[in-house]
Amino acid sequence: MIHTFSFVFIIVIEFLFVSSQQFLISERTTLLNLRQQWRNPPSLTNWNASSSPCDWPEIICNGNGSVTLLNLESKGLTGALPPFICDLQNLEILILADNYLTGEFPRVLYNCSELIQLDISQNDFVGPLPDDIDRLSQLEYVDLGANNFTGDIPPAIGNLSALMSLHLYQNLFDGLIPSEIGNLSSLLTLGLAYNKFATPEIPPEFGKLRNLTKLWMPQTNLIGKIPESFANLSNLELLDLSSNNLEGEIPSGLFLLKNLSNLYLYKNNLSGEIPSVIESVNLSEIDISMNKLTGSIPEDFGKLLQLEVLNLFSNQLSGSIPTTISRIPALKIFRVFRNNLGGELPSEIGLHSKLEAFEVSENKLTGKLPENLCGGGTDRIKIQK
Ligand SMILES: *[C@@H]1O[C@H](CO)[C@@H](O)[C@H](O)[C@H]1NC(C)=O
Ligand SMILES: *[C@@H]1O[C@H](CO)[C@@H](O)[C@H](O)[C@H]1NC(C)=O
Ligand SMILES: *[C@@H]1O[C@H](CO)[C@@H](O)[C@H](O)[C@H]1NC(C)=O
Ligand SMILES: *[C@@H]1O[C@H](CO)[C@@H](O)[C@H](O)[C@H]1NC(C)=O
Ligand SMILES: *[C@@H]1O[C@H](CO)[C@@H](O)[C@H](O)[C@H]1NC(C)=O
Ligand SMILES: *[C@@H]1O[C@H](CO)[C@@H](O)[C@H](O)[C@H]1NC(C)=O
Ligand SMILES: *[C@@H]1O[C@H](CO)[C@@H](O)[C@H](O)[C@H]1NC(C)=O
Ligand SMILES: *[C@@H]1O[C@H](CO)[C@@H](O)[C@H](O)[C@H]1NC(C)=O
Ligand SMILES: *[C@@H]1O[C@H](CO)[C@@H](O)[C@H](O)[C@H]1NC(C)=O
Ligand SMILES: *[C@@H]1O[C@H](CO)[C@@H](O)[C@H](O)[C@H]1NC(C)=O
Ligand SMILES: *[C@@H]1O[C@H](CO)[C@@H](O)[C@H](O)[C@H]1NC(C)=O
Repeated sequence: MIHTFSFVFIIVIEFLFVSSQQFLISERTTLLNLRQQWRNPPSLTNWNASSSPCDWPEIICNGNGSVTLLNLESKGLTGALPPFICDLQNLEILILADNYLTGEFPRVLYNCSELIQLDISQNDFVGPLPDDIDRLSQLEYVDLGANNFTGDIPPAIGNLSALMSLHLYQNLFDGLIPSEIGNLSSLLTLGLAYNKFATPEIPPEFGKLRNLTKLWMPQTNLIGKIPESFANLSNLELLDLSSNNLEGEIPSGLFLLKNLSNLYLYKNNLSGEIPSVIESVNLSEIDISMNKLTGSIPEDFGKLLQLEVLNLFSNQLSGSIPTTISRIPALKIFRVFRNNLGGELPSEIGLHSKLEAFEVSENKLTGKLPENLCGGGTDRIKIQK
């Protein structure tokens, strides 16, 4: 009885050993072929035929000794991505960032059926993204940033329903931003910055991305208005639409988003008044400078206890600076120069927080300087009446 049991036990052990040996030998061959295809870069000299790939620092294996993660960031790789990379059948995470890889989008990866994370940022890839990119159906995280991809973002990208993070920044995209991106309901971060899109407007469907925490789109050629639907982005923490040609008013719903902490709308053509009701109590940086905003500075800014940066310069704001602002305990940077502000500076400014920049020149301010302005250690004061 005992004898039979240990016999079975040995068979089981042997089976596990043999199957992991099989992965070891065939996947090691694949990896050594990859290295050879990439012309044996010095960064991979520790890959050799007498050690197990699972022990190589660039690799993580599963319990069966099969490769699931390959991290080749900054390894000096050149040339194309060889098709046999998907012979690593269990590959889930592929990081090739910061190399010199060339060619069009590597469709060979469609054969990596388990792939959930792909980072090919900072390489020399060119050309349009394929229309059938949704064949990478398991993807949760993708970073294609800092390459030379061109053309449209294909609408099929909206079919990658597991996506949580989509980064396409700093490419040469000059076509459409598809509204289908609004279908990516699991999306947490969306980075489209530094492209020259030819879309007239931000798709209002982006307002459907209720789980979105970061939307990063500076310098993307945007025109038209900020969609009212953004009021529905209840989890939004960072919104950067700076350096575009957006016009119209700032939707009042933006300042009601409870989790919003960083708002950058500077260098646009926004007009109208700043919404007077502000409930985004977590705001720590507001930069809406270099627009055409009119009206007065809302009293409600004084409710923002976390606020460190308030940049309102180069607008057409009038009225006086609300005294509530002088009581914000976190305020470090206050820049309102080049507006039509009048009246006296709040007398308590500089008393409740340590100002690092206080720039109010080119306005119509009167009266005397607040006495605590320098006491708090203000480094930079620019006052010119
Ligand atoms: C193979 O690589 C391992 C480390 O990955 C190293 O310890 C070993 O000395 C190498 N063997 C040969 C023959 O180069
Ligand atoms: C190992 O392989 C077996 C059979 O292919 C599979 O059922 C199991 O999930 C694998 N284990 C791991 C940790 O991948
Ligand atoms: C996937 O692999 C199959 C078989 O090796 C091959 O015929 C096919 O061209 C590959 N697909 C892509 C997109 O590379
Ligand atoms: C990518 O685009 C930049 C700027 O247009 C250009 O200087 C560079 O040579 C391009 N690189 C490739 C690999 O096409
Ligand atoms: C998204 O997937 C569906 C179902 O496979 C397909 O019919 C549709 O054409 C795809 N959308 C795009 C834009 O490719
Ligand atoms: C995705 O969005 C587009 C346009 O925004 C819509 O027409 C389409 O029906 C949506 N597809 C799915 C599968 O939800
Ligand atoms: C949005 O986030 C919540 C909380 O993390 C999660 O339960 C929900 O499944 C997410 N929605 C989608 C569509 O992924
Ligand atoms: C927010 O979403 C709800 C439900 O989908 C919708 O009825 C409403 O019109 C949206 N709000 C805006 C401002 O788009
Ligand atoms: C806001 O952030 C908090 C804390 O990170 C989180 O629990 C909450 O789900 C977020 N969303 C909303 C709508 O408050
Ligand atoms: C506000 O921000 C702090 C961190 O600065 C965070 O811990 C807290 O959850 C945030 N609150 C909301 C409502 O998001
Ligand atoms: C800004 O808007 C005005 C009209 O309000 C328009 O005349 C002007 O061309 C716009 N400027 C830019 C840079 O878009």
